Amino acid sequence: MFQELQMAKDTLELKGYLDLEIDPTLDLIAEINKLKKEKNAIILAHYYQDSDIQDVADYIGDSLGLSQKAESTDADIIVFAGVHFMAETAKMLNPNKKVVLPDLKAGCSLADSCPAPLFKKFKEKYPDHVVVSYINCTAELKTLTDICCTSSNAVAIINSIPAEKGIIFAPDKNLGAYLIKKTGRDMILWDGACMVHEIFSREKITKLMHRYPDAKFIAHPECEAHILDMADFIGSTSQMLKFTQQDEANSFIVGTESGIIHQMELASPDKTFIPAPPETNCACNECPHMRLNTLEKLYLSMKYELPEIILEDWVVEKGRKCIDAMLDVSKAAGFKM
Ligand code: 13P
Ligand code: SF4
Repeated sequence: MFQELQMAKDTLELKGYLDLEIDPTLDLIAEINKLKKEKNAIILAHYYQDSDIQDVADYIGDSLGLSQKAESTDADIIVFAGVHFMAETAKMLNPNKKVVLPDLKAGCSLADSCPAPLFKKFKEKYPDHVVVSYINCTAELKTLTDICCTSSNAVAIINSIPAEKGIIFAPDKNLGAYLIKKTGRDMILWDGACMVHEIFSREKITKLMHRYPDAKFIAHPECEAHILDMADFIGSTSQMLKFTQQDEANSFIVGTESGIIHQMELASPDKTFIPAPPETNCACNECPHMRLNTLEKLYLSMKYELPEIILEDWVVEKGRKCIDAMLDVSKAAGFKM
């Protein structure tokens, strides 16, 4: 008998259950689908998840779409196949639901680059400024934020702030620099960045462009300016996906986490997608945090309803305001799931 099958749920320690062995002959997809029905659970997955997780998800989307879905779902359990800040956002938007994340260690280098106590001190230097935080930040940072944004709606969010107001933008300096260029607003930037989007090589992308002269280079705004300068299109993951479906080009060099290519290939099977190469020969264009989630962990998290995202009431109450403000502006600007 496999260890996992022998243990009763109430004997499981949050720390230890991920080490359980799963019967390798178990049809995980069938089991996950069964658990979904039994528990009225919904699986929300980000585009950077492994393909097999995307294939079993009920909804796949970018950070904005996932937040909208988390807010509107009537499922009893939200299984978040993404990273910690995304699951926290889902919990803030729907605090009465149980939210589980297959691997609690699935964090985010960008969120980690802006610890709330340091940011609090930084913010005190600019008391009259509006704080706009990219949704890729901790729940605690959201309690210090006036309005959130995602890469889909960031321009609309900045434009919604009265012109005479100063703006602090956290935590992504690359997205911030892109927004300064795009909106003409002068913003104070926090010095944070995403480890995945900072590894692309301008030289290697240039070589690829020469090798595939008809390919379009598409990039995520978390990339550095010298990479964005080369791009034919800049957008969030869902905007990049849409662009590849609607554009007449037949091949694309994709400047973001390579997990998105799965949906691009499903949507446009006759087109070619080339992952933009990193500086080194590593697989650094795969997010090491996102990829901590596996189908096995997804199954275990649904079966044992662990690990659960728990937030203090004050964090939910205070942190939610900036997400609600973002969703209101997004709705008015016509952003749909
Ligand atoms: P979007 O999917 O909202 O574009 O965000 C990308 C990202 O880095 C998520 O961690
Ligand atoms: Fe964070 Fe970057 Fe990974 Fe997104 S891709 S979860 S921003 S580290």
